[in-house]
Amino acid sequence: MKTDGVVAPAAPFSGRKQSLIEDARRERSSCSSGSPGPSRYGDGFVFEEKDGRVTLNVLFTLSSEKNAGFFKTGKIFETFEAKLLHIESRPGRKTKNSTTDLEFFMRCEVHSSDLDVFINTLKRVVDDVRSVPEEKVPWFPRQIKDLDRCNMLITKFDPDMDQEHPGYSDPEYRKRRAFISELAFRYKQGDPLPTVEYTAEEVSTWREVYRQLRSIYSSLACRQFMDGLQQLEKECGYGEDRIPQLREVSAFLKERTGFQLRPVAGLLSARDFLSSLAFRVFQCTQYIRHSSAPMHSPEPDCCHELLGHIPMLADKEFAQFSQEIGLASLGASDEDIEKLSTLYWFTVEFGLCRQNGTVKAYGAGLLSSYGELVYALSNEPEYRPFNPEETAVQPYQDQTYQPVYFVSESFEDAKMKMRRYSAAIKRPFAVRYDPFTCSVEVLDQPGKIQNALSKMREDLRTLHSALEKLCSS
Ligand SMILES: [Fe+2]
Repeated sequence: MKTDGVVAPAAPFSGRKQSLIEDARRERSSCSSGSPGPSRYGDGFVFEEKDGRVTLNVLFTLSSEKNAGFFKTGKIFETFEAKLLHIESRPGRKTKNSTTDLEFFMRCEVHSSDLDVFINTLKRVVDDVRSVPEEKVPWFPRQIKDLDRCNMLITKFDPDMDQEHPGYSDPEYRKRRAFISELAFRYKQGDPLPTVEYTAEEVSTWREVYRQLRSIYSSLACRQFMDGLQQLEKECGYGEDRIPQLREVSAFLKERTGFQLRPVAGLLSARDFLSSLAFRVFQCTQYIRHSSAPMHSPEPDCCHELLGHIPMLADKEFAQFSQEIGLASLGASDEDIEKLSTLYWFTVEFGLCRQNGTVKAYGAGLLSSYGELVYALSNEPEYRPFNPEETAVQPYQDQTYQPVYFVSESFEDAKMKMRRYSAAIKRPFAVRYDPFTCSVEVLDQPGKIQNALSKMREDLRTLHSALEKLCSS
């Protein structure tokens, strides 16, 4: 299990859940300070300087009038003892003079001391010589079982690390948390979800939270949330007197939207949490907040997950919206992960939507916090229409209530906007989720795109046939 080893100075306890955004920001800053990355060396972007040799990516164009240039280039490589690691060619950009230019990409290794002369010699023989930085794509899970590796925990807000945590000075509570955490640490994808025998004190905390929030849901929560909650109360044992088990909740969700739960020991890093959503997996804590502060938790707990998130994940449109954010995060840069975490914050956690001319809550951070739910739907805060480009860079507030909330017209509308936003994220590929194999297909080759198109044609044929039957009946 990877854990965050950085102990941050304890922040004053404010009853707020730590956000994914701060985690993404922290990950970015720690990466940027420690990562070697490509370094500038003379004219070229250089990677892996080792034993006096450097690796670089070089692009150049060879015009049709200079066929001999190709052989001269080879001679330059030979002269400089450049080791060729990779070569690609493609038709060059069309110019007025020629339509048959070839563009070459070469990855090679040369002596560090020869680098500048090597590049300048190439420039004498070929055109438009450029060095290009390597595109590095962060690792991401391809199959659902890879989620066993998505376990980077942010531990600075748990009761062992945070002196302001209500359970910090309660050894029994910390022992209990360690026991429940161990269940999550041992879990592997496909195992039966662990069951927790909750104590009378834990059920009493749950009851207080459930009773308080339940009393205001019908006037402040969106229709989809109420539908989900009522189904959970009817079919999944939701109520004041018991804390639902992850196993039964996961089975309930799987039947409705294909979402499933997996236990997690605490707050996950933004990248790992978002990537799970791509597989319709929701990483869910199983412990409960300290009994001395039933209305506040500085970290996600089962009250936040089971009351705030689960009813919404039973809605098909919302489930799709959540998965869209997850898919957009796969292989994204740290900068984009921070933006996606901000989008997640202002939608899945603190989102509002308009229904029958009235604004209602759908964000889990609101639906699991009596105080902020009432505040968010009062006349005090500012409302803005959900617009991913604006929302992704909106400063958020984690010490008090949000000064601004974003209002979606519908989940369908939010999903379409999110899809357009995701398409603009810079990645050298697109991804597609395959529900049959619970895996992510990386569409980075023409053959894969062709296969995906064939599947879509099959679906269209089925729809066409259904329409024909409807028309003829
Ligand atoms: Fe949450």
